[in-house]
Amino acid sequence: MTTRKRILITGASSGLGEGMARRFAAAGRDLALCARRTDRLDTLAAELTERHPGIRVATACLDVNAHDDVFTVFRSFADELGGLDRVIVNAGLGKGQPIGTGYFAANRQTVETNLVAALAQCEAAMELFREQNAGHLVVVSSFSAIRGMPRNMTAYGASKAGAAALADGIRADVHGTPIRVSTVLPGFIESEMTSRSGGRTPLVAGADRGADSLVKAIESERGTAYVPPWPWTPLSVLLKALPVGVFRKLV
Ligand SMILES: NC(=O)c1ccc[n+]([C@@H]2O[C@H](COP(=O)([O-])OP(=O)(O)OC[C@H]3O[C@@H](n4cnc5c(N)ncnc54)[C@H](OP(=O)(O)O)[C@@H]3O)[C@@H](O)[C@H]2O)c1
Repeated sequence: MTTRKRILITGASSGLGEGMARRFAAAGRDLALCARRTDRLDTLAAELTERHPGIRVATACLDVNAHDDVFTVFRSFADELGGLDRVIVNAGLGKGQPIGTGYFAANRQTVETNLVAALAQCEAAMELFREQNAGHLVVVSSFSAIRGMPRNMTAYGASKAGAAALADGIRADVHGTPIRVSTVLPGFIESEMTSRSGGRTPLVAGADRGADSLVKAIESERGTAYVPPWPWTPLSVLLKALPVGVFRKLV
């Protein structure tokens, strides 16, 4: 298995993105970290380069909904690090309300950030990977992509199902080439997003276990992975099969 030395992570200023950055830094990888909160990125970069003096950590301010900037920032990271070996499309938003209850703006913002901006990130990453004829694209989807979700998860789940289908399609497109594409579907992992959800997060994994599990799944370069695998892999089979009336009570 190729060691992916230069790794770009979007949404690296907190939660899963930050947790992955810490683990890849400890494994000696160079990092390109972006998000809107650059103060947090700069603090993280300073800490990581002090702890792991052999690595390079580049940072940039990026709002993934500014699509032109996504292309510019990815290309400038590639120039700075001499190429990119892995891009993790992780930036995401957990906003959303039941459809038809007056929250179109929040639902649209969720879909734009998690799906349209994910498309921009995949386009920018794949341009670089096609030029290099190498690279690993990782899309952070969600367990909520497995089937239509009720309540405040409807738009979020739809955006994540779209992101998963996007990654799966790109994987089919580059099948047989040196480019790899992975879709990761986290269950609930402690982060700013889960703490904002008002406590209704069953089976939540701690941030450390979640990040360990994500990095393990990504390093394996499997096509699709539920993380942590327990209990989310068996639950994915069960929840897909349940009648909708039972399903809506459980999620
Ligand atoms: N935690 C879970 O249980 C869970 C489960 C399934 C999937 N996920 C997915 O995992 C990813 C990370 O979420 P998290 O749980 O770590 O949440 P989080 O702590 O809220 O982190 C979200 C990250 O995305 C960035 N972000 C949000 N909107 C952005 C924008 N417009 N432009 C650039 N960056 C943006 C944030 O950075 P700035 O605010 O600094 O820009 C932050 O770094 C998301 O895609 C989420 O959907 C999480």
